[in-house]
Amino acid sequence: MNNNNKFYLTTPLYYVNAEPHIGTAYTTIISDCIARFWRLYGSEVSFLTGVDEHGGKIEKTAQENNISPQEHCDITTEKFKDLWSKLNIEYNHFARPSSEHHKKFVQTFFNKVLEKGDIYKGSYTGKYCLGCEDFKTEKELEEGNLCPIHKTPVQDYSEENYFFRLSSYTDKVKKILEDNAELIKPAYRIHEIKAWLDEGLRDFPISRGSVKWGIPIPNDNSQTIYVWFDALLGYLSQLVNNPESLDELKDFDGYTHIIGKDILRFHTVYWLSMLMSAELPLPKQLFGHGFLTKDGLKMGKSLGNIVDPHQLINDFGVDATRFYFIFQIAFGSDGDYSENSFIELANSYLANRLGNLCSRVLKMYTKNMNSTVPTITLNSESKILTATRELPEKVKTHFEKLEPHLALQKIFDVIDIINLELSDIRPWTLFKSESQEDINTAQVLILETLESIRIIANLLSPFMPDLALKILEIYNISEIQNWESLKNINYLQTYNTVNAIPPLFSRIQKEE
Ligand code: MSP
Repeated sequence: MNNNNKFYLTTPLYYVNAEPHIGTAYTTIISDCIARFWRLYGSEVSFLTGVDEHGGKIEKTAQENNISPQEHCDITTEKFKDLWSKLNIEYNHFARPSSEHHKKFVQTFFNKVLEKGDIYKGSYTGKYCLGCEDFKTEKELEEGNLCPIHKTPVQDYSEENYFFRLSSYTDKVKKILEDNAELIKPAYRIHEIKAWLDEGLRDFPISRGSVKWGIPIPNDNSQTIYVWFDALLGYLSQLVNNPESLDELKDFDGYTHIIGKDILRFHTVYWLSMLMSAELPLPKQLFGHGFLTKDGLKMGKSLGNIVDPHQLINDFGVDATRFYFIFQIAFGSDGDYSENSFIELANSYLANRLGNLCSRVLKMYTKNMNSTVPTITLNSESKILTATRELPEKVKTHFEKLEPHLALQKIFDVIDIINLELSDIRPWTLFKSESQEDINTAQVLILETLESIRIIANLLSPFMPDLALKILEIYNISEIQNWESLKNINYLQTYNTVNAIPPLFSRIQKEE
């Protein structure tokens, strides 16, 4: 997963027909957390997110708003960027399919696949769902010709189009999946994909005559390229300097796509076939995560129960927002948001377990240790230091398996160990003792805790970057440290600074 110390990760390119919401924020928060972890580990990380701008759906939304599609895309793209900045999303690339660079790349790719003999002209008749930007079979439709996902009527579609010879890739995709057991995650999603492949893949139209807002087919301005064929290439177009050649991608070593389970079919069946046709490297991993509901119900405009990420950030802060969605949902499974569980978890983990630990220890340190670091050789085999020493590798193992929720749990396990040690040994009582041995024991415990908190803060940075930096102010550290420094459990003996810091996280009071 992390060969050559390079790591390339993508979110989907989100449609700009609507504003970003908690679902798109969820994918982006988790992906950012994973990207930040590998940066902390020292990998050369490339993290891409972006928007999906073309196609009939966006064209129609712009029309309804009485503005040009480009203007519409520009306005909504800013909304995505604004939310990502509020959520501390640190991306390296932002894909915009309406850029000249991307357009050229898509046309280059089209020509390559055409040369390969995988594109031909034909006619297509079927039912189309604009919301999905996809065809539906009669079997899939609900009563009244409704799309099962959008619950809106599908359109009759009949056009002369350019087709992609997908059918000839059925066996090749099957073989790829058989040979690469790690490609599809979580592993159980493979069954659904196998069922599609067993039905046999049908060639599909990759151009539209009826859609003007798109990339023109090379040498045929009467058709634009189908939005999915165009958008998937956004994962690669950003990586090349010269969009008129695919050569730069030949040795490109593996990448991970984080997507929702809703778009797994496009990413396995279509995307793998497209890449094979153009003779380009395939992704190493495709992770189809679950969907979020609110209070057990599907979120939607009609139910008026959409969770607004801006509201969460305003009410509870960015750290608690990131924490909740990473921690509370086993990555891969569906998950539910409720305000009660949000407040309970944030108070229990951020205010009580972590926040109180920092303030208790700093208070004892300031009061009883003259605010200086005594020269004491710590016992690296103590409970706290043993757990702390083992923590970075445990966290890494969970990131390797794309289990950020378990990585975070491991960090809180160590925080629990420290809290338990403090309750057992009761240093606040020992500091009052006449015996020097008792006082030493208390001092050692405080120093061990402080050493551990520094390492914990760095490890928390992928999850809650602001909170991590707040904790590191204890040590006058202004940037996340490197992986090597997490192995040093005698940091304070060298650097000698411990500052009191403001309370880390205030308990959230529930409004009645
Ligand atoms: N534009 C396509 C993707 C093209 S990728 C080359 C698209 N865009 S989308 O705006 O509809 O975003 C879909 C993605 O948003 C899902 O795959 C998922 O990552 C995220 N989510 C949207 N709603 C969601 C939930 N309710 N819960 C969790 N994630 C959800 O499809």
